Amino acid sequence: MPRIHFASTNKSVEIEADRETNILRASIRYEGGIPYRCGGGLCGTCKIHIEQGAENLTPIKKQEIARLGDKLQEGYRLACQTFTKGDVTITWDTSVNVKVPPKIKELWEKAK
Ligand code: FES
Repeated sequence: MPRIHFASTNKSVEIEADRETNILRASIRYEGGIPYRCGGGLCGTCKIHIEQGAENLTPIKKQEIARLGDKLQEGYRLACQTFTKGDVTITWDTSVNVKVPPKIKELWEKAK
């Protein structure tokens, strides 16, 4: 099964192998710790750095180009816009500490 390693919190999870998995959704589900706010590619809060496994990720989306620009060339992605089919190791700026509005967290929980 594909594995997501949340290196910034030193947590790894195995995900279902039969479908692509949104990295932010997996982080929320398994408490990986990626900060987020909007969940829709608008705020840029969920910026992650791909340490390994970039080849397993879905192509870059318009929202990522708009939010990350040149950072994409340095290996950054938006967790809420990125899906994986294989092993991936990610890090992020742990100084970002975002309080998620309860309504958004509730919606993400329902999407599990
Ligand atoms: S959570 Fe806002 S861009 Fe991903």
